[in-house]
Amino acid sequence: MKIGIFISGTGTNMVAVCRNFLEKRLEGVDEISFVLSDKRNAPGLQKAEALGIKTIVLPKRKEQTREDYEAEMLKTIEPYNVGLLVLAGFMKVLGERFLGGFHGKIINIHPSLLPSFTGVNAQSQAFEYGVKVSGCTVHFVDSTLDGGPIIIQQPVFRKNDDTDETFRARILEQEHILLSKAVSIVCKGEYKIHGRYVVVLNQEEL
Ligand code: GRF
Repeated sequence: MKIGIFISGTGTNMVAVCRNFLEKRLEGVDEISFVLSDKRNAPGLQKAEALGIKTIVLPKRKEQTREDYEAEMLKTIEPYNVGLLVLAGFMKVLGERFLGGFHGKIINIHPSLLPSFTGVNAQSQAFEYGVKVSGCTVHFVDSTLDGGPIIIQQPVFRKNDDTDETFRARILEQEHILLSKAVSIVCKGEYKIHGRYVVVLNQEEL
């Protein structure tokens, strides 16, 4: 399957997926067709270029409505004919217009064990709350905030001497592993959805 990756920032999750692909460790993926950023100066763009992946920069213009912007995004990526879009630190919430064009074909990585700590800065939210365990989640994207069906999750335990930064760093380390696993599961079609529950068919993937 051909995939596209959306980023807004540093792009370390995107790099992890691209490296696994380039090193032939990403089963089910035939091509990473592009990395799209909605931020012109996202540091991830240079990283993608350095890996030889096609980059697209598509910021929302001030005069554009969200619908117009999403229509432009759809038109821009249409020629690539990708079967999956991977949101890896993409900071825009996608609306119905966009989701309609990619129903069930968009996944997102979130740095908490959903449904706890949705939205931005989930790691700090969890840290400040005082949880003993947080982690990361890859889920299908629907019109709710971080609320689509969960594909896989990885817990990360807080250590007594963790700071916000060390806790965040250990979650990120796990994100880098988890996202590629989820991409492979989806690209190989090794799942079924029962209501909100995603059954991963090959448990060895986990
Ligand atoms: C990650 O923590 C991801 O879970 C969240 O945004 C962050 C992106 O980091 N959605 P990076 O750009 O992949 O380094």
